[in-house]
Amino acid sequence: MNVGIISTGRYAPKLVLDNKRLEQLVDTNDEWIITRTGISERRIIAPSREMPTPEYCKENSLNYNEEMWKWLNETENVYYMGKMAGENALNSAGIKKEDVSLLVVSCNSPLFVFPSQAAILRKMLSLDNAEPWAITSGCTSSIFHMKFIDTYLKQHGGTALSICPDALSATVDWSDRNNCVLFGDSAGAIVFSEVKEGGIQSYILGSKPSFEIALRTGLENQTINTNPLEFSYKKQIERPYFYMNGNEVFKFATRIMGGSNDYEGVIVEALKACGKTVEDIDLFIPHQANDRIIDAALKRCKINRDKVARTVDRYGNNSAASIPVALDEAVQEKRIKKGDTIVFAGFGADLSYGAAVVDWSY
Ligand code: COA
Repeated sequence: MNVGIISTGRYAPKLVLDNKRLEQLVDTNDEWIITRTGISERRIIAPSREMPTPEYCKENSLNYNEEMWKWLNETENVYYMGKMAGENALNSAGIKKEDVSLLVVSCNSPLFVFPSQAAILRKMLSLDNAEPWAITSGCTSSIFHMKFIDTYLKQHGGTALSICPDALSATVDWSDRNNCVLFGDSAGAIVFSEVKEGGIQSYILGSKPSFEIALRTGLENQTINTNPLEFSYKKQIERPYFYMNGNEVFKFATRIMGGSNDYEGVIVEALKACGKTVEDIDLFIPHQANDRIIDAALKRCKINRDKVARTVDRYGNNSAASIPVALDEAVQEKRIKKGDTIVFAGFGADLSYGAAVVDWSY
């Protein structure tokens, strides 16, 4: 049995935060951001009202459970983005919700440790027959999904919905120019099922965590105002922040993607695992963190520049959402046809890394 991708979807917030507007928030400039990262603008969630608290509901004689689901379903938040992307992907495949047997969700910016991201989205999407799995591995999450879903569906059959929503705008320090210029919010979704032709061919996964050099963040995101244009310093400064040593992550990312003297890198490794070479690539979909990291991978692996999907200029780094969002954009733009070989490659928090090769089935 072959497991492959049968449709994709995405959601991006309407609020666009371009570099010029960022210049008003923090000591940065458009030229620095573009030359160092390739990012011109990013999307940011803007919830229309604050999340209800148990105290607020009690004072106003409201049912906290009902108010929470209303907030999650009606305001723009990380789970709302996931729901919209998931619905888009199911609609474009014409899949009924009752036919989804597996839901896999990754979110690096959840509002709760539990209930899990998968349990929340299962309810929001009314996926009553789906097993909810939350599997989060930083920005590489969508590639981890591919291996898990491939293995699971080969054993159990059925249809899987993978959703990666992320809103790192809620975790970065909007007064720290080293980090806040890099990230944006959005959600991507992919539907997997049995396919007659093509499908997932190979995957390589791993991680090398480091508290010193890499990415880490606190979990207390509950009360944060996620709109940087209206953000409150005081509220945020009391909070544990997203931390990243950008230079070290840069070195790690370029080596992992493109290889070095003693290592061939994940792209070549995943291609070799299914008997292919870089010449077989029809479309390369890398994690969208920085144009320079993407360009280094292209150069080292000798991949033609026309064969890469790029969204980093308009979305910034959308964390786990970045690969599925770039894939959906490529599908919408009709850059992929049946039989094409697509290579996905990513890296991120956990210092996770991975690559997968998929032959397109439709
Ligand atoms: N605007 C203007 N100047 C800035 C700035 C900003 N937003 N951020 C940093 N600078 C300054 C620094 O303070 C430094 O100034 P100094 O030389 O006076 O000390 C200078 O720019 C150079 O900083 P440096 O860190 O050397 O830049 P860089 O070329 O390495 O680029 C990153 C920094 C973060 C863009 C780059 O290292 C990177 O992309 N790393 C990977 C991050 C990543 O992908 N993370 C997510 C993984 S999923």
